Amino acid sequence: MEPLNVRDYEALARAKMEETAWDYFAGGVEDEFSVTENETAFRQVKLRPRMLVDVTQRDLSTTVVGTPLAFPVILAPTTYQRLAHPDAELAVARAAAAMGVVPCLGTGNHYSIEEIAAEVKVPLWFQPYWYSNRTIIERLVRRAEDAGCRALVATVDASYPGRRERQLRRKLIVPPDIEQRNLVGIGLEEHPVTLPGATQPIIAAAGGFIALTWDDIAWLRRLTRLPLLIKGILTAEDAVMAVEHGVEGIVVSNHGARQVDTVISSIEALPEVADAVGGKAELVLDSGVRRGTDVLKALALGARAVMIGRPFLWGLAVGGEAGVRQILEIFRAEIDTNMAQLGRPTIASIDRTMVKAPADWTRTAP
Ligand SMILES: Cc1cc2nc3c(=O)[nH]c(=O)nc-3n(C[C@H](O)[C@H](O)[C@H](O)COP(=O)(O)O)c2cc1C
Repeated sequence: MEPLNVRDYEALARAKMEETAWDYFAGGVEDEFSVTENETAFRQVKLRPRMLVDVTQRDLSTTVVGTPLAFPVILAPTTYQRLAHPDAELAVARAAAAMGVVPCLGTGNHYSIEEIAAEVKVPLWFQPYWYSNRTIIERLVRRAEDAGCRALVATVDASYPGRRERQLRRKLIVPPDIEQRNLVGIGLEEHPVTLPGATQPIIAAAGGFIALTWDDIAWLRRLTRLPLLIKGILTAEDAVMAVEHGVEGIVVSNHGARQVDTVISSIEALPEVADAVGGKAELVLDSGVRRGTDVLKALALGARAVMIGRPFLWGLAVGGEAGVRQILEIFRAEIDTNMAQLGRPTIASIDRTMVKAPADWTRTAP
């Protein structure tokens, strides 16, 4: 069967991947209710198509914090991509370059920032993980700046590991051919910290997780002139704090339901965040995006783009660089077709009137 959509790639990846690695990609926390909910919540948003609009010419291009995108999809930072394919982040970056979108590199990637920057001429974003010693974070940030990265993404919802029961049951032993080259020689050996119960042994052993507060965001903001996005915000209250701390962007995300179960889904959180931010920061949404219509709903409710995580990992597992490119082509085609169906020929023509969402999604306080 010729794979036509992202779900087809999910099935192919599952059949191909070793079970422990599959569980690492697919899993959430505890009962994993939110893994499903992240996807089904999009169904609560209904589309309102407009007729008799000339949609013969469509333009899917946009920008996020100044970075151009051929269409509004960004590849989310994910650790251990090499579990899917030996070319890992290199393949992902090449596919992104071919399609005109941005990969967000992660600290825990196999290939280093410099290796990827040397390979592809595409704007890169970088997600520095937090370590208890700020010198290490500063070194990572300087390397991202020197390599020409166009934005930093500070993840704030993973300073403590969630209870990922699939991983606790079936321990992921990271194969020796998977390295974390960004961390080699960065000084971590001087600051080893292990955290009891950590489910991500390498990261925990390498640097540990820290008690993160808004002071750390203020510090990071002062440290760099690169556009800063804060990833993992789900409430109006935190969105206001983020704006007060001078970030250029907010990634409305529940980390693909990998941190807390029965959490609010990102699409449900988006309207209240958008209202609270009032255009003072640019919004990106991730968690559960599987269709072009999901992307368009996120745009209608206030995001400028989405990040996808698992879908491109499925593509990577199935076909390496070509597989990731196919996933991106599917998203682009679905976005394009549905923009035509909805009478919205440009990204700028998409607004809240394109959707009907549950009224209480804009309510901020419980
Ligand atoms: C296997 C895997 C590894 C991840 N690693 C990271 C990471 O290192 N840093 C980070 O900020 N988010 C990480 N995430 C979360 C993604 O960036 C993103 O928020 C999430 O995957 C989006 O949900 P989706 O998978 O439903 O698209 C990871 C997600 C997955 C599935």
